[in-house]
Amino acid sequence: MPDPRKILITSALPYANGSIHLGHLVEYIQTDIWSRFQKLRGHECYYVCADDAHGTPIMLRARAEGIEPEELIERVWQEHTEDFASFAIGFDNYHSTHSAENRVCATTIYERNRDAGHIVRRTISQAYDPEAEMFLPDRFIKGTCPRCGAEDQYGDNCEVCGATYSPTELKNPVSVVSGATPVERDSEHLFFKLGNFENVLRDWHKAGHVQAEVANKLNEWFEAGLNDWDISRDAPYFGFEIPDAEGKYFYVWLDAPIGYMASFRHFCDRTGVDFDTFWNADSTAELYHFIGKDIVYFHALFWPAMLHGAGFRKPSGVYAHGFLTVDGAKMSKSRGTFIKARTYLRHLDPEYLRYYFAAKLSSRVDDLDLNLDDFAQRVNSDLVGKVVNIASRCAGFIKKRFDGKLSDALDRPALFDTFVKAGEEIADLYEQREFGRAVREIMALADLANQYIDDKAPWVIAKEEGRDTELHAVCSQGINLFRVLIGYLKPILPRMAEQSEAFLNVEPMTWDSQAEPLLNHGINKFKPLMTRVDKDKIAAMIEDSKEDLAAEAKATTQAAAGSPLAKDPIAATIEYDDFAKLDLRVVRIAKAEHVDGADKLLRLTLDLGGETRNVFAGIKSAYKPEDLEGKLTVMVANLAPRKMKFGVSEGMVLAAGPGGKDLFVLNPDDGAQPGMKVK
Ligand code: MSP
Ligand code: ZN
Repeated sequence: MPDPRKILITSALPYANGSIHLGHLVEYIQTDIWSRFQKLRGHECYYVCADDAHGTPIMLRARAEGIEPEELIERVWQEHTEDFASFAIGFDNYHSTHSAENRVCATTIYERNRDAGHIVRRTISQAYDPEAEMFLPDRFIKGTCPRCGAEDQYGDNCEVCGATYSPTELKNPVSVVSGATPVERDSEHLFFKLGNFENVLRDWHKAGHVQAEVANKLNEWFEAGLNDWDISRDAPYFGFEIPDAEGKYFYVWLDAPIGYMASFRHFCDRTGVDFDTFWNADSTAELYHFIGKDIVYFHALFWPAMLHGAGFRKPSGVYAHGFLTVDGAKMSKSRGTFIKARTYLRHLDPEYLRYYFAAKLSSRVDDLDLNLDDFAQRVNSDLVGKVVNIASRCAGFIKKRFDGKLSDALDRPALFDTFVKAGEEIADLYEQREFGRAVREIMALADLANQYIDDKAPWVIAKEEGRDTELHAVCSQGINLFRVLIGYLKPILPRMAEQSEAFLNVEPMTWDSQAEPLLNHGINKFKPLMTRVDKDKIAAMIEDSKEDLAAEAKATTQAAAGSPLAKDPIAATIEYDDFAKLDLRVVRIAKAEHVDGADKLLRLTLDLGGETRNVFAGIKSAYKPEDLEGKLTVMVANLAPRKMKFGVSEGMVLAAGPGGKDLFVLNPDDGAQPGMKVK
């Protein structure tokens, strides 16, 4: 064995104002597989990450929720760490960019660059919201596209015609924060002189630290010229104040990648691992960043330049992946294909997804598609039908006929050797991040194992007298082949591997520990290692995603904007006649009950003063049924009955609020009688 390598691996830091979704998981699963692989190979490998906690959207979201940003990021940190743990993402450390370590690292990197002459100050003019008293990021200004006239476009680009422009060019600009018309205002900003690093960056790219597709993109950027990068933002801003610039804060993207370093620092302080070995300019340790293709500019230009300017080492590799589509299209909230990690976990086994992503991942920047039919079919046929099947076909005989003990010798040692020898090629594929190809190699071996068992037909041998030794050797062969396969799948399926280790009664496997067969060895009772993907559960997950996002949309709307109207503008106007069609009635809530299997709904029996109606209302998060009974409210009485999963709903009650616990059933004043008309 050559000396173990020292490897530090990161995934991009998810923003601390949203939930983890399946798109994110492409990245965390990809990185985790690679990190687990390196560890199984015996290298000294660490995988760190953190929440990206700074910036305007997070500040505004906290403000809208009426809490401090610290409280928001703490809550999201909890949620993110739980989601990641559920998907078996094995971080060695998960930190936050809003941390003492990150403040120190960011300050060091800034000051060293400043002292080396890489920071300049310049006054610039920017859009300012006079009402909210803050400068506005481009994304927080909306208006009419100067090119095609499309309304309601963001301050930096038009989603209709694709034009890019500066917010000052936008017609009829409005602040998304307050609704005010932005004005121009001057302010001094700090800039990082990226152009000083052109040669360093060109050399670094040429040395093969980025993928070929990325290198092409970078050449275009070099041709276009490297501009100074604005690294400061004015107060109010949630971030770190710049040490020598009062009232100015580091732009979130300045301290975000530094968060990789800070998370590792936090890890080193906790474990005694030597930080400098990994970060000094002359370090021989390896440093890899896994990222999405949308953030290449930050990782392949700014980040290595900042590191170099501060006298640290540059990354050994920046590996970009593509974006996830679901059933061939961008994830969609209305179609229910914008699936959050949490929602997935309520319905399906996380290892299904780990396997499916692995089977589709390569070292390239290509997008990848989660085709839900293919997903079910692939997991069922490969993992349940091929891999688990090998063990389940052999384990019973070992248990019943041989007292749980494997034979002294294999039936076909050469086949076992083939399996072991294939390991080097599979390891090469993992190393090159060609997980899809690795999976195909492993499944080809699984096919060989099943063919072998089919040929031998142990269930036939078992019925014949005097063939016990043969039966024993065949089943032991099968179990040993299974064991090698699980070893190869362990980076992808850590939980299944762990259960298999318990079944095989062995120590945690490493990459090499399967080189010798298990002989004359007692194994444990076989329990099914994975059940088939149930298509109904996929359908339920899609339904669930639709529901979830209705609630979420309300929350984020309010959040991003500060004002509920700003991002959730009033719907198109209706005529008086449309309004007159609504028959609004005062009703008494005669009965309110839980609905079996519904997270959000209550079944209300409404008394209209003689007539009763059955209505399902999504207010369970805010009310206990018993608190509602006897109350008066207002309903839309002439809404067409609607068939829902739990029954027919014959109308709608009116409620207001952002959702969750804050949802208020309209409560007419005393004196109203059930049945009264409301307008
Ligand atoms: N906070 C920044 C990263 C800072 S790194 C110093 C950010 N956060 S993010 O939450 O928007 O995205 C985190 C990672 O998930 C990014 O690498 C991003 O490319 C990736 N993905 C987000 N949506 C994705 C898909 N739909 N598909 C695949 N990857 C996706 O960017
Ligand atoms: Zn346009």
